[in-house]
Amino acid sequence: FDAASSPRRTLAGRTVLVTAGPTQEPIDPVRYLGNRSSGKMGFALAAEAARRGARTLLVAGPVTLPTPAGVERQDVRTALEMEAAVHLHAPGADLIVMAAAVADFRPAAYADEKIKRHQGTPEIALIANPDILASLPQFAPRALRVGFAAESTLAATEAARKLAAKGAHLLVANDISRGDIGFGAEQNEVTIFSPTAPPETLSRRPKAAIASALFDRFEAALADFLVLRE
Ligand code: C5P
Repeated sequence: FDAASSPRRTLAGRTVLVTAGPTQEPIDPVRYLGNRSSGKMGFALAAEAARRGARTLLVAGPVTLPTPAGVERQDVRTALEMEAAVHLHAPGADLIVMAAAVADFRPAAYADEKIKRHQGTPEIALIANPDILASLPQFAPRALRVGFAAESTLAATEAARKLAAKGAHLLVANDISRGDIGFGAEQNEVTIFSPTAPPETLSRRPKAAIASALFDRFEAALADFLVLRE
């Protein structure tokens, strides 16, 4: 008996889009700005969506993780590539889960050749990347949109502000400053914020178990949302 292969297919007929991992913003052919996101949480979420029978599209930044069973994966590197992939897939999605740690900034210029030491210490000017999640109301107005927030202490008022600013329906906050959970760790502990319910914390457990508990909430929100939408 393999529990993973005989789930309740509660998302059959639905399309779920998940982003995962970091982005890399190149400086020159060998250097980039990146972050420490491992992609594990996003991959666990995509695995859970597929297990529940959803058509699951995973847009992944540069990570070294195997593609979960039943998941259609598109690899990207930069925030701009991630944006293009998300905009391509978002219109067909019923649920969009933005677990990727998208770089907020990228180098303003890209050097075609490796910057050499004898050229002196470079000044690297940055420009803002687009906020992909915040663009989704326009690209996927009918999808349930879930954001992630990597913040140790997210006050409910700040979560509400972020939800409104990004036009998202749910915000999942996790504390990346703790070594035992969050970035790179095998376990996570998260708090779910919504405009309509009090915050709910899912206590520390393996990322696959967090993904399953989150999808229970996403499915409940999706059911309410579909009724409201009709
Ligand atoms: O504002 P903050 O970075 O905390 O928001 C995090 C959420 O927004 C995550 O869901 C992340 O995937 C998304 N995001 C995005 N594009 C960015 C920055 C963050 O989609 N440029």
